[in-house]
Amino acid sequence: MLIGVPLETRPGETRVAATPETVKKLVAQGHQVIVQSGAGMQSSVPDGAYEAAGATIVEAAATFAANIVLKVNAPNETELAQMQPGTVLIGMLNPFDNANIARMAERGITAFALEAAPRTSRAQSLDVLSSQANIAGYKAVMIAANQYPRFMPMLMTAAGTVKAARVLILGAGVAGLQAIATAKRLGAVVEASDVRPAVKEQIESLGAKFVDVPCETEEERECAEGVGGYARPMPQSWMERQAKAVHERAKQADIIITTALIPGRKAPVLLQEATVAEMKPGSVIVDLAAAQGGNCPLTVADQVVISHGVTLVGYSNLATLVPADASALYARNLLDFLKLVIDKDGQFQLNLEDDIVAACLMCRDGQVVRTNG
Ligand code: NAI
Repeated sequence: MLIGVPLETRPGETRVAATPETVKKLVAQGHQVIVQSGAGMQSSVPDGAYEAAGATIVEAAATFAANIVLKVNAPNETELAQMQPGTVLIGMLNPFDNANIARMAERGITAFALEAAPRTSRAQSLDVLSSQANIAGYKAVMIAANQYPRFMPMLMTAAGTVKAARVLILGAGVAGLQAIATAKRLGAVVEASDVRPAVKEQIESLGAKFVDVPCETEEERECAEGVGGYARPMPQSWMERQAKAVHERAKQADIIITTALIPGRKAPVLLQEATVAEMKPGSVIVDLAAAQGGNCPLTVADQVVISHGVTLVGYSNLATLVPADASALYARNLLDFLKLVIDKDGQFQLNLEDDIVAACLMCRDGQVVRTNG
């Protein structure tokens, strides 16, 4: 099949949907790969590296006219207009953006949003949320360390002792767990909290302390179980007790990294302004939920602001700040997904019996197949 890889055009996007490693594998499987000139530049992949892997370098329009288009973000209207009915599009298309999915359906393309894959063992190798959140968790700690006006580790020097930074992580999913591990490696004292009691063991196995907010009612316990591995909005009673616990921990913290998300909804507020006001001057908050409204109302998306003497970082897509590895992992996710939709003769096949394929399919034959929210 002819597989196209365009240059991503969304402002701030640095990633690319294929790397020389994945191109080489696709070419070895008998496919023809065409890559837009400059598509890999921001991920440190020059055109020549794609050519060496067997791809042909082309202009944008040719990539959108391919049988299969591999993207990072959903296409904009101009890009969509260049795609033909029947084209297969695979990317992080945002399954909750119903308007955009309707536009893709109108265009007659067959679109797969990889964020919609189930969180099962079989789907792990193509789990784009995990591959990118892992990077975000790491980078959040790097950014915090950079903004923090002190050392992270405890140091004993001839000029005196420096205390280790205290890091509080709110939300211990993929990003939060990586943030814990990274902060521990830098020598910080780490504690973390989550609604899902199941993560207690994972937090402790990374050497951090679990900030427990026990459930007191059946309703709270039911919500804390989540759905499909994801968190559900917690009852007000629990959120109030959590706010109190967070308030106390935040006063002691030097760095807070918040990662709490609820799929398809605005992010929960975990850090109230009153809590930020009582944090130590020079403390840093990195809010990974900035694009979903933020876990702190003082966060400004895509900006670094100082409020009550605390630096708040609201970068909304941290994976784009580690573009080479973010692209490498994402491209492998795509390669693994392609195995599910290409048959042994190298042709596209739509096997809706496959739960991963069915979950990711957003539209085909002019119809929206699945919408969320
Ligand atoms: P996410 O990015 O949707 O949310 C981040 C974290 O915030 C979650 O741990 C969530 O429980 C937490 N959170 C939500 N509301 C909160 C609140 N009010 N206070 C504190 N924390 C709050 O989560 P992510 O990283 O996508 O992971 C979701 C689930 O998927 C997890 O159970 C994870 O273990 C599971 N998973 C399974 C995989 C697989 O088996 N293939 C792969 C990756 C993740």
